[in-house]
Amino acid sequence: MVMISTPSAALIPTLTLLISLPIFFYFLAPRILPPRQIIISNPEELDDLSLFHKAIAMDSANFSRRPHPRLPSVKSHLSSGKLRRPKIAFLFLTNSNLHFALLWERFFTSSNLTIKTHDLYNIYVHADPVVKIDPLDGVFKGKIIPSKRTQRSSPTLISSTRRLLAAAILDDPANTYFALVSQTCIPLHSFNYLYSFLFDLRRMSRGLEFSSYIEILDDDPNLWDRYNARGDNVMLPEVHFNEFRVGSQFFVLTRKHALTVIKDRKLWRKFKLPCLNQNSCYPEEHYFPSLLSMQDPNGTTHYTLTRVNWTDSVNGHPHTYHPPEVSPELIYTLRKSNSSYSYMFARKFSPDCLKPLMEIADSVMFKD
Ligand SMILES: *[C@@H]1O[C@H](CO)[C@@H](O)[C@H](O)[C@H]1NC(C)=O
Ligand SMILES: *[C@@H]1O[C@H](CO)[C@@H](O)[C@H](O)[C@H]1NC(C)=O
Ligand SMILES: *[C@@H]1O[C@H](CO)[C@@H](O)[C@H](O)[C@H]1NC(C)=O
Ligand SMILES: *[C@@H]1O[C@H](CO)[C@@H](O)[C@H](O)[C@H]1NC(C)=O
Repeated sequence: MVMISTPSAALIPTLTLLISLPIFFYFLAPRILPPRQIIISNPEELDDLSLFHKAIAMDSANFSRRPHPRLPSVKSHLSSGKLRRPKIAFLFLTNSNLHFALLWERFFTSSNLTIKTHDLYNIYVHADPVVKIDPLDGVFKGKIIPSKRTQRSSPTLISSTRRLLAAAILDDPANTYFALVSQTCIPLHSFNYLYSFLFDLRRMSRGLEFSSYIEILDDDPNLWDRYNARGDNVMLPEVHFNEFRVGSQFFVLTRKHALTVIKDRKLWRKFKLPCLNQNSCYPEEHYFPSLLSMQDPNGTTHYTLTRVNWTDSVNGHPHTYHPPEVSPELIYTLRKSNSSYSYMFARKFSPDCLKPLMEIADSVMFKD
């Protein structure tokens, strides 16, 4: 009896370990170890490619139906029935509810607007399908595009943005500017103000080409680590270190540059590789600035229109504003920039800022 029971008694700890290991990895490991990076599968990649091809083909086919961004004057543009007024495509990239949907709705429909906005903008939402999102209504109703999983520190924030750009190019040839925002972004000015700024009459009358608003920097102290996040020299030969740039994830692009982004294969081949070094892995902060600075160095302002507060940032997250901080003064402060124009959007705001923001929406934020 003793001879038989000894080995089976010895087996018990081993068995316990064997049974508990999967339990550990299934329930506990995700909280202890960093989440496994999403690898973009071939079918997902092909699916995106076919969307980009469709959008590019649609764009060339509709070339003549596009509102010309370099019209001699807006008057002739408006009086000619066939031409359509240029629109702003708002691209919402989210992995949660759109906390500020009501504020944005007010932005789009405020009764103080001097222009009729309904045919001057479109909305597109990319929502991570793994997250359950409350049904969208009002101006957001039915605006979710076919979306795929997204994850921080992975190339999925690039691919979801490219999907939004392609969906918007495909949907309406009148989409002329493409503004990327997230669920924590708020507008800082009225729709009127933004629209008149982007489609500047003086610029139009001088026949000048329109610029994209995207931050492009080459002097960040972490740039070398970020460049090598996928392995030493992996970015070569497509991107040399002296071509590698950093900038804010949120931008406003012209249609020309939106097309540049969805046509790109060369840089994406490198940027889609998973990071070996998770601490230096922010592909979306490098892909867009590097690509546009390589392809059209003088076509962008190098400034973003989205204000973000990096003071005391924690773990790569900027300062998040909470309700006690919301005031008219905060809005005025956030608008001030170092360039010749004002900031148009700001992030990040906690969801409970909705109420205090709505209270100053008409009297402060959208008054201009
Ligand atoms: C960009 O602008 C600079 C200075 O204004 C000029 O020297 C350069 O040739 C321009 N580059 C391109 C590609 O147009
Ligand atoms: C930026 O955030 C810091 C706290 O991290 C805060 O003290 C400061 O007032 C903020 N600046 C602006 C302009 O809101
Ligand atoms: C403007 O530039 C100064 C000096 O580089 C910097 O300290 C400040 O934070 C900048 N302000 C804004 C609003 O970006
Ligand atoms: C319209 O703007 C005025 C100030 O210009 C403001 O007093 C008023 O509250 C605004 N009303 C609405 C409905 O937005």
